[in-house]
Amino acid sequence: MTSILTLVAWPYANGPRHIGHVSGFGVPSDVFSRYMRMSGHDVLMVSGTDEHGTPISVQADSEGVTPRELADKYNRVIVEDLQGLGLSYDLFTRTTTQNHYRVVQDIFTALHKNGYVIAKGQKSAISPSTSRTLPDRFIEGTCPICGYDGARGDQCDNCGNQLDPVDLINPRSKINGETPKFVESEQFFLDLPAFSQTLGTWLATRSDWRPNVLKFSANLLGDLKPRAITRDLDWGVPIPLDGWRDQPMKRLYVWFDAVIGYLSASVEWARRSGEADAWKKWWLDPQAESYYFMGKDNIVFHSVIWPSILTGHNGTGDHGGEAGPFGRLNLPTEVVSSEYLTMSGSKFSTSRKQVIYVGDFLKEFGPDALRYFIAVAGPENQDSDFTWDEFARRTNFELANEWGNLVNRSISMAHKNVGAIPAGAELAGVDAELLQASRAAFATVGDSLRRCRFKQAISEAMRIAGLANKYLSESEPWKLKDDPARRDTVLHTALQVVSDVNTLLTPFMPHAAQKVREALGDEGVWAAQPQINIVGEAGGPDYPTIGGNYAAEQARWESQPIKVGKPLAKPSPIFAKVDDTLGKTGPSWAPLEING
Ligand code: MF3
Ligand code: ZN
Repeated sequence: MTSILTLVAWPYANGPRHIGHVSGFGVPSDVFSRYMRMSGHDVLMVSGTDEHGTPISVQADSEGVTPRELADKYNRVIVEDLQGLGLSYDLFTRTTTQNHYRVVQDIFTALHKNGYVIAKGQKSAISPSTSRTLPDRFIEGTCPICGYDGARGDQCDNCGNQLDPVDLINPRSKINGETPKFVESEQFFLDLPAFSQTLGTWLATRSDWRPNVLKFSANLLGDLKPRAITRDLDWGVPIPLDGWRDQPMKRLYVWFDAVIGYLSASVEWARRSGEADAWKKWWLDPQAESYYFMGKDNIVFHSVIWPSILTGHNGTGDHGGEAGPFGRLNLPTEVVSSEYLTMSGSKFSTSRKQVIYVGDFLKEFGPDALRYFIAVAGPENQDSDFTWDEFARRTNFELANEWGNLVNRSISMAHKNVGAIPAGAELAGVDAELLQASRAAFATVGDSLRRCRFKQAISEAMRIAGLANKYLSESEPWKLKDDPARRDTVLHTALQVVSDVNTLLTPFMPHAAQKVREALGDEGVWAAQPQINIVGEAGGPDYPTIGGNYAAEQARWESQPIKVGKPLAKPSPIFAKVDDTLGKTGPSWAPLEING
């Protein structure tokens, strides 16, 4: 049994999430965690909404509310969507808690004590017309490294390099097109070059990361420069040093506070669970493993910046130091990054209203179909495309016809002929072969899941469902009226494989898996679902969180013998088919495709 920490990228609380967001990190991290729990490991899965910085203040301006009001509004929406999708967080919280501020400030202080953050002057951009600070990501220009013209002040999406707005050639404001003015301003910098030795040695040990993440990170390490971790902004965590903490226009940079959320959420979870030190098992034990899930534009923050912050806090960077208040924190075991989900070939775009929101999707189709689509056709290793046509095809022909129909006809026939789970008599070669294949799948599918190869895993599980369908068609139990012993053996075999495949599919479709268990006559919680809990802090406002009692679920990663004699009711279909025309028209509330 291993302590497994699942850390999921924190969505910005600046709008509802679209299906692209949850396909990159949400569903994969949940599939992984559910599999790990079923395998007997001790999983802690945390995240929350990312509520500071310019993404929030800019949207608040445009909605005419305060950043806090905006964050409150979308934190609630996002919590509802992620819970509805069945994402089994132990704690999904937010970055505006007192607990988070405290942990972030403690980490900053430790870095400062160890000499890994340094104050110096920097040119910072302001808008000449409004005199307001221009956030990095709202400045656009030509990348000084690759020459790409759409580079942002913080990052070039073409070559992936981290940038400073001053580096851009021909900088312009994305808000109104004007040329920003650069003024001198004092900021704190994380001294990244002081981690290059330590991180280089560490990265060399990370051989099983996805090759793109490894290569990208190694490149970054080759050319580290100090990065500003404070901003001229009034919305964020104050800098915990005399002379800085009371300045109204100085805050820690949103990315600095957000990644520390992984630790602060673990600490909050421990306190809420009644055992304040419980987080240590996942963060301090060198045997514990940590898996970070995110979209590809987040890699640098997880594979370089966060490990640097941890190393600086631990006092183990290139010039040493003392371990900070949290002890010697573990560095990431694995950084699992996904590519992008597009729609009919184009990027999702909230501003152009070319977007499918998770909430709308769940209302119409429920969680199973979306989770299935993401697992089987999501952007795991390359950008992948969502079309309504493909969604309808996968839902109707794979989910409903292949898997749903196998469940339905096996249970129906047993119900009609026997009224209960029949006993098997002597196995024929074909029976034994099928049972053997489904038992062997626990090792192969499990191995893929452990390595975050989700497509490979679900394809193998669905392949077994296909074998079972073929077996039923060839064995024709409906023609075996005169040979009830043989008929029952076939039905017994089919039901056993239905039970096995259902277990293999549980991490992917926990809601459906629960229904299949019930259709097989089982009671109790097979796959536990997350709940929304309203919590508070002393002196602070209440807020919604996601949590759950996952230890109480029955699902285990093994073939369980079906219970002979268990009465079976007439099953109702587990998966609804979508309307045939959906593929051509899309639902009324969503665009059929993006017209640029
Ligand atoms: N809010 C960021 C985004 O949506 C992700 C933050 S991940 C964190 O791109 F770990 F830093 F929180
Ligand atoms: Zn570039």
